[in-house]
Amino acid sequence: MQGARWNGMTAALAMGAVALFAIVLVNQPGRAAVSAGEQLFQKNDCTTCHAVDHKVVGPSFQDVAKKFAGQPNAAQTLVDAIKKGHVGTWGQVPMPPHPNISDADLKEIVDWILSLK
Ligand code: HEC
Repeated sequence: MQGARWNGMTAALAMGAVALFAIVLVNQPGRAAVSAGEQLFQKNDCTTCHAVDHKVVGPSFQDVAKKFAGQPNAAQTLVDAIKKGHVGTWGQVPMPPHPNISDADLKEIVDWILSLK
């Protein structure tokens, strides 16, 4: 009796694990095509306030790319803005600082943002 119940549970657990694995696989379409910068954008808290093609709390990244297109110090300006926080360019809502993201990661994110125009 005990043994049979145990086997049933083991089978159920195994099926659950298989289902979970399948979900994880399906949720990564075209993974290789996503740039490092975009992955970092999704991994950090940026998605709470930003989207690529529409305003959320902060400006859309396409708008940022357009505004800074052709500016010689665009990348450094944006790295500083994300790192130290920023307010005033897009309105009166401030972006909080992100002191824990490395400069290399910030550069990846900013290069990706500037490529979106
Ligand atoms: C709590 C909301 C919030 C979060 C989280 C957030 N931002 Fe922002 N972001 C804003 C707001 C609001 C602005 C507009 C600031 C301004 O007007 O100067 C902004 C502006 C920006 C700008 C333009 C800066 C400029 O000088 O014009 C960039 C680039 C940016 N965010 C990238 C990011 C990235 C990358 C992340 C994640 C690491 C992030 N943001 C997380 C709210 C947020």
